[in-house]
Formats: sequence, C-alpha cells, structure tokens
Amino acid sequence: MTMTTSRTKKSKLHTGDGDPMFVRKTFAQFPSGVVVLATEQDGQKHALVASSFMVGVSLEPCLVAVAVQKTSETWTWIKNSQSVGASVFSQGQGSLTRQLASKDRAARFEEVAVEVDDSGAVYIEDASLWFECVLYNELDAGDHWIALLKVTQMGVSDNEPLIWHGAGFRGLAKPDSIAAS
Ligand SMILES: Cc1cc2nc3c(=O)[nH]c(=O)nc-3n(C[C@H](O)[C@H](O)[C@H](O)COP(=O)(O)O)c2cc1C
Repeated sequence: MTMTTSRTKKSKLHTGDGDPMFVRKTFAQFPSGVVVLATEQDGQKHALVASSFMVGVSLEPCLVAVAVQKTSETWTWIKNSQSVGASVFSQGQGSLTRQLASKDRAARFEEVAVEVDDSGAVYIEDASLWFECVLYNELDAGDHWIALLKVTQMGVSDNEPLIWHGAGFRGLAKPDSIAAS
C-alpha cells in the first residue's frame, strides 16, 4: 500500500527561510471567527478586533482567550476596564470589522450601533454572539500576550457568524452543500 497522503503533506512543508510574510500568509489560511473586545471609560469607547479569539479554554471557570499584539495601544485600556464586551461579528459585518480595527482610533465607533452596560462593557448590535468578560490572566507569548478572559454572561443571536480566511471575509457554507463529503 502506498502512503500518498503523508508524501503529499511532506512535499508541502517549508521553513519559509525566515520570511515573516510566509508565516503570516500561512496562518491566514486558518479559518476563524472575528471578535471585537470593547469598553467605554470616561465617555471614550475602545475597540480591539481579533481573529485569534478562542472559546472553550476552560469550562470551570468559564474562560475564553485572545492573542493580543504587545504593540496594541488599545489593550492597555481594555485590560484595565471593569468589564469587557466581546462581540463575535456576524455575516454582513465585514466592513464594520475593518472600521473597528482602523488606525484612526477616534473614528472606530462612528455611526456604529452599540449597547453599553453599567460596567462599561460595549456590545455591537446584530453580532452573532456576545460575552461579558473580566480579565483573568495575561500570559507572555512572544510578541503577543495571551489574554485569558473569564466569562460572566453570554448570549447568542440568530445571525450567522462571519468567517475570516485568507485575509478576507466569508460566510459559512450551507450544510447541504457539504453533505456529500
Ligand atoms: C480581521 C482582523 C483580525 C485581527 N486580529 C488581531 C488579533 O488576533 N490580535 C491582535 O492583537 N490584533 C489583531 N488585529 C489588529 C487589531 O484589531 C488592531 O488593528 C491593532 O491592535 C492596532 O490597534 P491598537 O493599537 O488600537 O490596538 C486584527 C485586525 C483585523 C482587521
């Protein structure tokens, strides 16, 4: 029996010769959801968009995680807030995602429909999922921090999630279209 699967895989493996774009492009092929961590402090809203969001890190306590670039200016605000709203974007919110991640931090929330609770957690309207979180731990991870967030409340909408893949946005395929495989 020939093991074509493993031969094929090996021929596809590369070191990238130290090219950081090779790493970025390869990581970008991993599909994920996209979240925005958001808070309001002293009347100012702060948003950190992340595709590195991960649920189910722990069930007891209930933990989610995000990898945050150490250069992030917004992270300082988020990590020091009383509580953080995490909204998972839904299909159709691709341009909103880019707006909330734009370099112009003052323009991020322009005409964005949000709900702010008493603790300062900010939630995006019409998202797919929402989590209310508090910072649980911050772990060193190279040029990123791994932020562990403890979830205190969560909710789901009927809106399907937005998918981030290959540096672009997609939606979920309809179950019927993949049933044959
Ligand atoms: C689709 C998408 C995914 C992103 N994922 C992450 C991420 O996982 N972690 C991160 O630190 N930044 C991520 N960013 C970049 C941040 O949203 C933001 O632009 C960056 O933190 C710089 O802004 P700041 O200095 O205000 O934090 C992502 C941006 C986009 C558009």
